[in-house]
Amino acid sequence: MAEKISVLFTEEEVDARIRELGEQISKEYAGKAVHLICVLKGASFFACELAKRITVPVSLDFMSVSSYGRETESSGVVRIVKDLDEPIKGKDVIVVEDIVDTGRTLSYLLEMLKDRGPESLKLCTLLDKPERRVVDVHVDYNGFVIPDKFIVGYGLDYDQKHRNLPYIGIIEFE
Ligand code: IMP
Ligand code: MG
Repeated sequence: MAEKISVLFTEEEVDARIRELGEQISKEYAGKAVHLICVLKGASFFACELAKRITVPVSLDFMSVSSYGRETESSGVVRIVKDLDEPIKGKDVIVVEDIVDTGRTLSYLLEMLKDRGPESLKLCTLLDKPERRVVDVHVDYNGFVIPDKFIVGYGLDYDQKHRNLPYIGIIEFE
């Protein structure tokens, strides 16, 4: 099956939007420090760029949960593949995700992190596909609302490919 990738948001558009999110977060966390939790692997490109645009002190930790393999629908079964290195108790935490699709991964993850006693817990996602939502998840910061298409690039993969595209694209098969 041949793959066709079309540009949804250019590198410039993504960069501009991340700068805005960084400014917004910097304002809202003035006088505090933020602890970013990057959900591997998809959010890694976004998390690094976002961290660079935040002007209050930033610390960063990484977590990996099982997600799509070759499938294009999450099962609702979430497995922690790599846990955080540091405790989040008392910290102002922002979970950084690549995309909220059905919401299953995030709702599980946020509940689990809440139990660890952070001072505050928010969610920042690069992309939100609200049409696909199965589980209610509150998104505090969102880069772009997108239609129900399969997305690659800027960290997002199809079968582990195309994460390195500098733009956000829609992948189709013909
Ligand atoms: P959810 O649990 O259905 O919200 O799925 C979240 C995870 O599924 C994301 O963190 C991605 O890893 C993956 N995912 C969902 N939609 C897409 C997509 O359009 N492209 C690539 N990965 C996706
Ligand atoms: Mg992900």
